[in-house]
Amino acid sequence: MTKNIEQEKQLAAKEAVKFIADHQIVGLGTGSTAYYAIREVGEMIKQGLDIQAVPTSNKTKELAESLHIPLVDINAVQSIDVTIDGADEFNRDLMLIKGGGGALLREKIVASLTREFIIIADSSKKVAVLGKFKLPIEVIPFAANYVLRQIQSLHGSGAIRSVGGKPFITDQGNFIVDADFGLITNPSQLAARLDEIVGLVEHGLFINMASKVIMGINGTTETFSREG
Ligand code: A5P
Repeated sequence: MTKNIEQEKQLAAKEAVKFIADHQIVGLGTGSTAYYAIREVGEMIKQGLDIQAVPTSNKTKELAESLHIPLVDINAVQSIDVTIDGADEFNRDLMLIKGGGGALLREKIVASLTREFIIIADSSKKVAVLGKFKLPIEVIPFAANYVLRQIQSLHGSGAIRSVGGKPFITDQGNFIVDADFGLITNPSQLAARLDEIVGLVEHGLFINMASKVIMGINGTTETFSREG
């Protein structure tokens, strides 16, 4: 059967929004898969759903506003009940690579406040070992070359993401380095090493954060849950 990636994304999104209930604080992810979930939430608001949402990027904020989804400042909430977001890769332990859209910093902050962090994905995102997708890393521009050298000292390589010949700038005013570490056999260890680098603001390895991955496949969805 040929894969229908857009249909898989939509199916996953429709399934994930079932976990949203009235009076919740809901985190809204970023990217082409999260887009479908945000559209669904917009429809649910029209039908009377009563929630407040925290967007993970300026782009998502604009989309949510266009759909009349009520927003709340992240600094005004103690926690977030459920967040629905996409991922670039996930493995069977529900470790993720995120940040293909450059929103990983706010995404990780929102995920950190979230009780139920649900990833929605098409079936191309499931991998045995993370690392085919280059790992997005947000860096302070002042530290960019230093961080690139530190990545090399961890046996990786990286390049500053550019758009139209200019560095891509994140919502927080930083650069993104797309780093290649080959296949990442020990994501927790790499994450810990990256966390130690000064000037590296955040990286796209999301370890022990997702509670579920809902994946669209063959006209239906498959749900993977993390134990513990
Ligand atoms: C945005 O920075 C990302 O983390 C996205 O959630 C991720 O890149 C998945 O994006 P798509 O749903 O567009 O594949």
